[in-house]
Amino acid sequence: MDLGGGGGSNPKVDEDDFLESGGNHHDSSSHHHQHQRYFSSAAVKITLLFVVVGLTCLVLNQSAYPTQMFQRSYTFSEPKDSLRGNISSPSCTAGAMQHNVSSSSSSANDNNNLEIILRAAAMADNKTVIITTLNAAWTEPNSIFDLFLESFRIGNQTQNLLKHVVVVALDRKAYSRCMEVHLHCYALTTAGVNFSGEAFFMSEDYLKMMWRRIDFLRIVLETGYDFVFTDADVMWLRDPFQRFYPDGDFQIACDHYWYNYTDLNNSPNGGFNYVKSNNRTIQFYKFWHTGRDYFPGKHDQDVLNMIKFNPFISRIGLEIRFLDTAYFGGFCEPSKDLDLVITMHANCCIGLENKIHDIKMVIDDWRRYMALPSGTERNLNSTSWTVPRICG
Ligand SMILES: *[C@@H]1O[C@H](CO)[C@@H](O)[C@H](O)[C@H]1NC(C)=O
Ligand SMILES: *[C@@H]1O[C@H](CO)[C@@H](O)[C@H](O)[C@H]1NC(C)=O
Ligand SMILES: *[C@@H]1O[C@H](CO)[C@@H](O)[C@H](O)[C@H]1NC(C)=O
Ligand SMILES: *[C@@H]1O[C@H](CO)[C@@H](O)[C@H](O)[C@H]1NC(C)=O
Ligand SMILES: *[C@@H]1O[C@H](CO)[C@@H](O)[C@H](O)[C@H]1NC(C)=O
Ligand SMILES: *[C@@H]1O[C@H](CO)[C@@H](O)[C@H](O)[C@H]1NC(C)=O
Ligand SMILES: *[C@@H]1O[C@H](CO)[C@@H](O)[C@H](O)[C@H]1NC(C)=O
Ligand SMILES: *[C@@H]1O[C@H](CO)[C@@H](O)[C@H](O)[C@H]1NC(C)=O
Repeated sequence: MDLGGGGGSNPKVDEDDFLESGGNHHDSSSHHHQHQRYFSSAAVKITLLFVVVGLTCLVLNQSAYPTQMFQRSYTFSEPKDSLRGNISSPSCTAGAMQHNVSSSSSSANDNNNLEIILRAAAMADNKTVIITTLNAAWTEPNSIFDLFLESFRIGNQTQNLLKHVVVVALDRKAYSRCMEVHLHCYALTTAGVNFSGEAFFMSEDYLKMMWRRIDFLRIVLETGYDFVFTDADVMWLRDPFQRFYPDGDFQIACDHYWYNYTDLNNSPNGGFNYVKSNNRTIQFYKFWHTGRDYFPGKHDQDVLNMIKFNPFISRIGLEIRFLDTAYFGGFCEPSKDLDLVITMHANCCIGLENKIHDIKMVIDDWRRYMALPSGTERNLNSTSWTVPRICG
């Protein structure tokens, strides 16, 4: 399939694909009924056609959404400049999507060209970037963003990873905060939309923003970059690259790691994932995004749980890997051993203040651990966390 080829390129989606996904998973039984309703009509074909044709347009026509997340930080940016020039086509403006893009968004100039930013941020050997998204609320001094950066500084051999981080800023304030402390900032502000506010969990804005993320990440893949997407409330304590599976296309952290690394019954968490750029992952991200239309009111993680068994995925040959919480933990299921932990995600936590409180405890636990002399003594003395305290 052809990259950046406008609306015409699309994964081949059988209309009954979505029908077959979902119901056989313990989390998704409640959605089964609902999605059948959406699938059994002739409108499905039309919708599919629209989705396929409109996908690219959608990407280009949607503006970013306000953010501020409780469960996870989700924010997205707009493909701009050269990317826009290459992908969009005039017909996209008729794309019937509800969102009006303002071209008078941030100073769209060379300083904000996604391709240039990705190139500058990427790891030399393998075109990999680390992507996070931010809004003003998360960039206040002493807030999530500072703790995120702090984790890279105090993590074991994570300092050098910071220069590969691309911060996607959703508002002016987040952008300037990023510029103050960081090299790679991608701005996305849109006139007429206040991105500074909080998008309450599962509100309309929150959902739009999360779906926007899927679009944006697909464009990163199409541009040829592998990425680690990380919510800013994921603390990076060790270098994750040693723990990723060499043969995985799409690797994702879990709220709960129930089984083994290939078992689709695991409960993935979209706040941390590692994705290689190839035709399979690009098709997968397109497919995933179509779920937005099939499962109205659901967020991307719910939809992922519904589509993960879908025959489409084995048909395109996508290799999915689930990351063990022993290494990639969170407040839902903390890593048990500080000698093993790689990341700690403030998931299963409602409320910004609660999150910050418990993340600070993570930082303190880690500092205490790192201050201990290495060897068995450290291992014996600090095998677990004091968190979650308020969260969890
Ligand atoms: C489009 O893509 C080509 C190569 O992929 C690149 O050289 C060019 O700068 C991009 N942008 C525009 C606006 O054509
Ligand atoms: C989109 O924005 C343009 C320019 O700001 C405005 O004229 C137009 O009415 C808007 N359309 C919608 C549907 O909001
Ligand atoms: C990519 O290259 C960097 C060094 O440039 C290395 O640290 C990292 O482990 C590599 N990642 C993968 C997945 O090979
Ligand atoms: C930090 O990383 C180095 C090099 O991989 C390793 O030798 C050391 O044991 C690590 N320290 C901890 C606390 O994991
Ligand atoms: C945007 O929202 C924030 C927080 O809700 C508020 O403080 C600010 O005044 C708003 N800005 C505008 C321009 O409405
Ligand atoms: C993982 O779990 C699946 C499903 O239970 C099973 O079929 C597969 O053999 C397991 N793989 C490994 C490596 O244990
Ligand atoms: C996708 O597949 C085509 C042909 O099979 C290949 O030329 C292209 O490089 C692939 N793109 C990616 C991103 O792997
Ligand atoms: C580890 O714990 C033991 C017993 O709890 C204590 O005697 C020892 O001093 C501790 N070591 C360090 C380095 O804190």
